[in-house]
Amino acid sequence: YYGSVVNPKALDVYDALPRCLLAISAQGNIDFIVEDVEESLIQQTLAERGLIDVEVVPLGRYEFIMPGFIDTHTHGPQFPNLGSGGQYELLDWLQNVTFPMEAKFSDPEFARRTYTSVVQRVINNGTTACCYYGTLHLEASMILADIIHAHGQRALVGKCNMNRNCPPTYIEASSATSIEDTKSLIAHIRGLAPAGRALVQPVLTPRFAISCTDELLDDLGKLASGDNALHIQTHISENESEIAFTKELFPKAPSYAGVYDTFGLLRQNTILAHGVHLEPSEVELIKERKAGISHCPTSNFNLSSGVAPVGEYLDKGLKVGLGTDVSGGFSPSILDAIRNASIAAKVVSLPYKGRDDIPGKYTNRMLPIPTLLYLATLGGAEVCDMDKEIGSFAPGKSFDALIVDTSGRSGNPNFYEHASVDKALDGKKALEAMLEAFLFCGDDGNISRVYVQGRLIGGKSFARLD
Ligand code: GUN
Ligand code: FE
Repeated sequence: YYGSVVNPKALDVYDALPRCLLAISAQGNIDFIVEDVEESLIQQTLAERGLIDVEVVPLGRYEFIMPGFIDTHTHGPQFPNLGSGGQYELLDWLQNVTFPMEAKFSDPEFARRTYTSVVQRVINNGTTACCYYGTLHLEASMILADIIHAHGQRALVGKCNMNRNCPPTYIEASSATSIEDTKSLIAHIRGLAPAGRALVQPVLTPRFAISCTDELLDDLGKLASGDNALHIQTHISENESEIAFTKELFPKAPSYAGVYDTFGLLRQNTILAHGVHLEPSEVELIKERKAGISHCPTSNFNLSSGVAPVGEYLDKGLKVGLGTDVSGGFSPSILDAIRNASIAAKVVSLPYKGRDDIPGKYTNRMLPIPTLLYLATLGGAEVCDMDKEIGSFAPGKSFDALIVDTSGRSGNPNFYEHASVDKALDGKKALEAMLEAFLFCGDDGNISRVYVQGRLIGGKSFARLD
């Protein structure tokens, strides 16, 4: 590929590279990146690196490539509920809208139909790697994994473990059956592709502490301790009533995070959704265990859960990524998570406006563009413990990428022509302006191609070819 490339580097830095040459191997990995190559020197630059007669895909003037978005937390079976239920807070929302919808996935045909459209929709929104919750059903969760595998998306897929405090029509009979089904799903997913080439991986998914007995959490901890590669995802400290109920159910645990830690479920590949109301000791514990936080601001606003102090977590060195948390969140797009993460940080920062005595770099401040980009890409990769493979462009990493088109063709928002992008700006400044405009007012209409491991799997132009 030859053209403009956006590449996150660190929490506060990204590279905006016009005239960049990006070489991808047949296996879909990044071979090399050469910055600022004159158009007339493309073939010579390639030849110097031993590449003769290779196809070069030129990007248009209004296009750029960036790493794909990473959604560190969503629920596949809750997509039919998108846009409803926002009048509830968490525990009533689960009982009144969420559990009844998830129960329908006992029907494999309903699951297949729903998940087929869910997965393509997530991909077309630019999410190249996604952490999915399924339902408690083994068969439906296998179907979800099969569909993701067939579409070529990178994903973690888990079936919910939930054997208490759930309605009689939607609950697992015992810890033993929950564990047995979990093991079957793990085996099924690991059988989809040869080890080392697998894009879909299993993830242990204790729904949240409230829905699991001590015995079930203990059994899951044992399963995890024998299998370090196994990811773990769960919810934590989302809502005040949830936290109070958790403390009632686990009176001996030092904290909510302490519940998971007691059972060996907090580790480097644990993804903790929300963390809105964490106590300082929990932040320390999560950091010590190297677990990550999935920040889900759209959901936290929509379910009136609160505002996570993400800037503080970043200053304290926690790994943070973004999650859509469909359908607690009303949008499957990480672009909306970025916007609401920006608004959430601004809400937190309001009382501190104008003060010059705020300690730290991110605490109680708005989040700058490089940080928002980071959370949506490399930060998410860290949370998923996949930052060696994905999240940014570097030799040896996978080519999981988006081609963003801001030209306004075929009815897409044309912010390059209409917004504040000054045509007189040099290439780098213009690219930075295009990125900012895309993050704040673009949508799936601007995502023309979506690649995972070098393979084209979605986007606006893919849909047109389909
Ligand atoms: N806590 C337990 N289950 C859920 C869920 O489905 N969504 C959210 N946002 N929080 C939860
Ligand atoms: Fe959730």
